[in-house]
Amino acid sequence: MTAARKIIIDTDPGQDDALALLLALASPELDVLGITAVAGNVPLALTEKNARKICELAGKPGTKVFAGAIRPLVRDLVTAEHVHGRTGLDGPDLPEPEMPLQDGHAVDFIIDTLMAHGEGEITLCPLGPLTNIALALNREPRIATRIREIVLMGGGFFEGGNVTPTAEFNIYVDPHAADVVLRSGVPVVMMPLDVTHKALTTRARIAAIRALDTKVGAACAELLEFFERFDEEKYGTDGGPLHDPCVIAYLLKPELFTGRSCNVTVETGSELTMGMTVIDWWRVTDRPENALVMRDIDDDGFFTLLTERLARL
Ligand code: BDR
Ligand code: CA
Repeated sequence: MTAARKIIIDTDPGQDDALALLLALASPELDVLGITAVAGNVPLALTEKNARKICELAGKPGTKVFAGAIRPLVRDLVTAEHVHGRTGLDGPDLPEPEMPLQDGHAVDFIIDTLMAHGEGEITLCPLGPLTNIALALNREPRIATRIREIVLMGGGFFEGGNVTPTAEFNIYVDPHAADVVLRSGVPVVMMPLDVTHKALTTRARIAAIRALDTKVGAACAELLEFFERFDEEKYGTDGGPLHDPCVIAYLLKPELFTGRSCNVTVETGSELTMGMTVIDWWRVTDRPENALVMRDIDDDGFFTLLTERLARL
């Protein structure tokens, strides 16, 4: 077997972040060097605690969790309790975590870890606003050539936005950070709403997860049932979009996704379209390709993978 792929997950849990963390922690192909928390769905004090709750649920209390940025680079923090609940992980009754938060700042951990490894060894997996990643790139630009790639959940184009008519939440919360990442020269793989809105937590899929008949299966079913209630009403679908696990699934089975390489530029000037990801899908400009933008997913294959991996925890 080839060596496990080294990753750092940057996250703002969030129920869908939680499922992404569980998918990663269940997968031997991935070596989770650390989890860095950022303010996003809920404030930092909750996201770092939620990340630890999920590590303990996974039976991996030795995982390193660091706290990062408390607010976006320029704009005020916008949170999403109306989607994720007051705690960010509303749904199951998960115990307060006993495992410690690591000393030191998430941004230092990202920089130090990348600098201690060779070029192209570590993949960054951002599942929330890109504040921590941008801070690391700004503080130590030499990390750019060390990052193998950044596989992120964020943006949307054909599907529009989910927090404004044109902006997706993660990019909207810190558009300036997204701009830094997309201009960094690091290879980026982007999972926008165009993909994640096709990964729906239907009743049958949640039932399959509950039928695992494990502590993790029961907690995941409760997380998903809480999470989807808002989106089902909003979109009129059976189930809600399961955004963040798409990032981890791509690392495990890239053939589940299709997309194309194109230029992505983030709007940081206009209040009307703030945080919009302007994706040159049809390559009508000469702006350089800076991201592999996904558009389609084998959603049945994705949920089969997720459920099979959750069964291992
Ligand atoms: C993204 O925003 C958050 O609410 C989710 O966790 C996901 O990362 C979807 O727009
Ligand atoms: Ca998230």
